[in-house]
Amino acid sequence: MTAPNSLAARDIAYVLHPYTDPRQHEQTGPLVITSGRGVWVRDAEGREYIEGLAGLWCTALGFSEPRLVEAARRQLARLPYTHGFAGRSSEPVIELAERLVRIAPAPLAKVYFTNSGSEAMDAAIRLVWYYNNARGRPEKKRIIGRRRGYHGVTIAAGHLTALAYTRAGFDLPMRHLFFELTTPSLYRDGLPGEDEEAFADRLAAEFEALVRALGPETVAAFVAEPVMGAGGVVVPPRSYFEKIQPLLERYDILMVADEVICGFGRTGAMWGSETFRIRPDILTVAKQLSSGYQPIAAVLISEEIYATIADYAHRLGTFGTGFTYGGHPVPAAVALETLRIYEEDRILDHVRSLAPHFQARLARLADHPLVGEARGIGLIGAVELVRDKRTRAQFDPKLKVNARVTAHCQARGLILRPLVMDTVGICPPLVIGREELDLLFDRLEAALDATLADLEREGLRSP
Ligand SMILES: Cc1ncc(COP(=O)(O)O)c(C=O)c1O
Repeated sequence: MTAPNSLAARDIAYVLHPYTDPRQHEQTGPLVITSGRGVWVRDAEGREYIEGLAGLWCTALGFSEPRLVEAARRQLARLPYTHGFAGRSSEPVIELAERLVRIAPAPLAKVYFTNSGSEAMDAAIRLVWYYNNARGRPEKKRIIGRRRGYHGVTIAAGHLTALAYTRAGFDLPMRHLFFELTTPSLYRDGLPGEDEEAFADRLAAEFEALVRALGPETVAAFVAEPVMGAGGVVVPPRSYFEKIQPLLERYDILMVADEVICGFGRTGAMWGSETFRIRPDILTVAKQLSSGYQPIAAVLISEEIYATIADYAHRLGTFGTGFTYGGHPVPAAVALETLRIYEEDRILDHVRSLAPHFQARLARLADHPLVGEARGIGLIGAVELVRDKRTRAQFDPKLKVNARVTAHCQARGLILRPLVMDTVGICPPLVIGREELDLLFDRLEAALDATLADLEREGLRSP
């Protein structure tokens, strides 16, 4: 039990936490993180952990990058706030937009700033609708996502986050505007004997069939993460997006790439869109944009979308939307410095040189009796746990086997995240070194062994 005035006790008294079982949390209390250095974080009791999920897939540069601290300090001292309403702007916002456009994976021309990935997706949906109203196509509003996609939890973005736990009890979704297709997981959704290519063909055919059933004149956009993150780190078949892309062009459907996790090097290219040959009309970024040091996100749009929106807004008299902190100079200054560091420190080269080792250590886990599939790309991966490797049968979800694994990781000084489908996600800061990576995987292996021993002892799995 926690001491009455401890941080943990005050947390339980006053904080409502996302993605916890509140009643269980009241028993166990929080893990209070107090400081960080490199890829390591320290808790209130002085224990140290490798942050194996880079916080929430975001702290690419680790937890103690002095240049980012200095960029924030400098901007706070010079101009702590201004906004972007009614034609106002600031230097870091302008420079950041310019740099984002320069490095974008497609000819995207304008940047709209928000505070979070959810808001970026919300804004993207809003822009898609506005754009089609501008084109005199008010019926072209439907949006297609995928099951197990994660795009945030604001009401609109929450419609595209197709996970049971983000919807239960929240009256989502409204079915007439948002639709979902099969998760591109060959392991779970492939048919017996189907290879990657045949699977991708089938999913493209499914996409086209849905568009035709709904009527192409009603379908506005396809929204996808290049690699699904929170949905269990699902790496699509290589040609999946290449097969869908021509259909988007044929039916005049916008491609919205959610690069909130994949953007800035995670998959071994600057963009997931490059890795998977996606040609986005709209792109959302957040997280690694500022290495998680400040809340900032953005939506990038093509010149054609911008021109259409601008003409329409001109006719209406104003582009009537915006956030008080959208285009805040302090997060913008930190994001700008983050992008400079990525370039100057050649972070992408580091990711590319380390990725084969990461993937080799990950692949080794596939031999573990609890692991059905070990999958990943670049410096992101996951293991999917199964009761029976041959049939791929899962454990009873109530057993929360993946949470047992992450608890064993935590006891060994490693923070990882349990995700849907009994997976454990791995997404360390991009600056992780080879020895730290080995330590991460050593600890994960030990945690898998310990979980297996627990399950066997409890009679939940036969030795
Ligand atoms: C791919 C993706 N899109 C959007 C979001 C939502 O971002 P935020 O939590 O900043 O609202 C997330 C968050 O994890 C994400 O992974």
